[in-house]
Amino acid sequence: MDLTEAIYGRRATRTYTAAPVPKEVLKSLVDAAVQAPSAVNEQPWDFTIIQNTSLLDRISAAAKAYMIETMPSGSFPEHLHETLRSPDFHIFYHAPVLITVSARAGGWAIENATLAAENLMLAAHGLGLGSCWIGFAQRWLETADGKRTLGVSDAFVPIAPIIIGYPTAPIAPVPRHPPQLRWID
Ligand SMILES: Cc1cc2nc3c(=O)[nH]c(=O)nc-3n(C[C@H](O)[C@H](O)[C@H](O)COP(=O)(O)O)c2cc1C
Repeated sequence: MDLTEAIYGRRATRTYTAAPVPKEVLKSLVDAAVQAPSAVNEQPWDFTIIQNTSLLDRISAAAKAYMIETMPSGSFPEHLHETLRSPDFHIFYHAPVLITVSARAGGWAIENATLAAENLMLAAHGLGLGSCWIGFAQRWLETADGKRTLGVSDAFVPIAPIIIGYPTAPIAPVPRHPPQLRWID
């Protein structure tokens, strides 16, 4: 796929078929992720790939409960509080795979993991897969329980939980606001 087509065509995907994603395809996404730049070329990434749907259900429930318990009211738009309180809401939209990008803590951990995550999402799109960063999972994944579940060591911090799977249908473009631009000549 042409790069411009990939950048403009990638969409946050929230409905997935139950089709599993072959391991070699998932491995190729990680290979694309690690082509990202990293500060001082540290390449400080760590990837946890979860395909166990019962575990994904448990993480969804734990992350929702954690968010409801710890999110001060007013910190999010009210409709997001309502969404989280809905028993039927699955934060991973029943996607068959969750890849969490973690990075060695400190320095530029967030930047390093986020650049890898964007590569991963673009590569997924190039292979006909959908993806979505799931911020709702982040706070719980950062806890001791979350890190233990991911198998992430103390030296690392989970940053980018990305769901992956085959989309049920194409997704319409999401309009962008005109960028705030300032030219200084
Ligand atoms: C840091 C971050 C957190 C996000 N968290 C969620 C989330 O928890 N649930 C969700 O459905 N989408 C989440 N998204 C996806 C955004 O809602 C989506 O990227 C945005 O609506 C624009 O749509 P597009 O990605 O199709 O262009 C997140 C995106 C980012 C970058």
